[in-house]
Amino acid sequence: MPIASWIPDLSVGVDSLDADHRHLIDVMNDVFDSMMAGGDSSAARKGLHALGIYVVDHFGREEEWMAARGLADLARHQHEHEQFRLEIAKLLKLSEQGADDLALELLMVLRDWLLCHIGASDRRLQAPDQARRKQAVPRPDSPATR
Ligand SMILES: [Fe+2]
Ligand SMILES: [Fe+2]
Repeated sequence: MPIASWIPDLSVGVDSLDADHRHLIDVMNDVFDSMMAGGDSSAARKGLHALGIYVVDHFGREEEWMAARGLADLARHQHEHEQFRLEIAKLLKLSEQGADDLALELLMVLRDWLLCHIGASDRRLQAPDQARRKQAVPRPDSPATR
């Protein structure tokens, strides 16, 4: 059962980052399924390792994308990413300790955080590009076209 779904409102307008976000959501759903399956929790831990690795890869790509465009928001955005990385590490530790209920609770918190981060912080990534585009194409009622 999925705990999160990608919807068009989560699009940041950059195909590669949207693909990453879709995959992150898929991996999170896989982890949830493994946790709910019960029994041997090695599948859940394997899934959490995969999630941790993918999170680091994705954040790296996103931060590079931001840095290449000189976005002023980079430091604050990196800080948000770092907090999430730490929480994923905490989640993995809980799972390794067999604290399954706490791990499940934290997974839900991280699911909310991820959707909120993509829907708010990541979606703001496009704002400067859109602003530049607006500046480059004069609107019909702008002084430049009169
Ligand atoms: Fe992202
Ligand atoms: Fe981000």
